[in-house]
Amino acid sequence: MNRALIICGSAGRGGVTEAMCQSAARAIRESGCDAYVAFPSDMDIAHCTGCDGCVSGRCTIDDDMQTLYRLFGESDLVIFATPLHFSGPSSLLKTVLDRFQVYWHDRSLPHPLACAAMLCAGSDSPNFSPTVSILRAFAITTNMHWLGHLEFPGTDRRGDDGVDEAVRGFTERIWEARGNLSSAQIWPPCSQGNG
Ligand SMILES: Cc1cc2nc3c(=O)[nH]c(=O)nc-3n(C[C@H](O)[C@H](O)[C@H](O)COP(=O)(O)O)c2cc1C
Repeated sequence: MNRALIICGSAGRGGVTEAMCQSAARAIRESGCDAYVAFPSDMDIAHCTGCDGCVSGRCTIDDDMQTLYRLFGESDLVIFATPLHFSGPSSLLKTVLDRFQVYWHDRSLPHPLACAAMLCAGSDSPNFSPTVSILRAFAITTNMHWLGHLEFPGTDRRGDDGVDEAVRGFTERIWEARGNLSSAQIWPPCSQGNG
């Protein structure tokens, strides 16, 4: 596979997060590979209720997450993009992440080889680390290599000025790093919360 799934975590279309996603998709497509940008804001995705129905290996909620699970399983890189919201990921992206609880119960479900993140924030000196910790924990739970993250602060001041340049350089690095991985190197399952 040579496909990237990019998940846009902003609830607002046309903002800095979407600009990051579109730049990453363009950079990957220009290298001759597939990139699909998913917009959970335009999808019907319910909250995980912790019902534990997914012990069976399938989430029992029949909504648009079923499409995201399929795209996730058919990609070899996933990139999460989110604005910082009170130092965490957007609640929209967190809702999506929580619905991957089924992977906690069944580690054999199909998943990308690798994962990365692009984070933007209004302040010039935001605290990105809680969001990075959450996304790294997610990568561990779903058995993906963590390839790193891009920080794009200062959007209150500069909007999306400079996004394309920053995202292109980052995307080229992680796309190349993903190409150098082999499936034999996938991390073994670790306990949730590490990372
Ligand atoms: C609810 C909310 C919480 C936010 N919290 C933070 C924050 O903790 N730190 C920060 O630097 N910016 C924060 N911001 C600013 C956004 O991260 C910033 O405007 C971002 O560029 C928005 O991206 P978007 O237009 O793609 O949604 C917050 C914005 C909102 C709406």
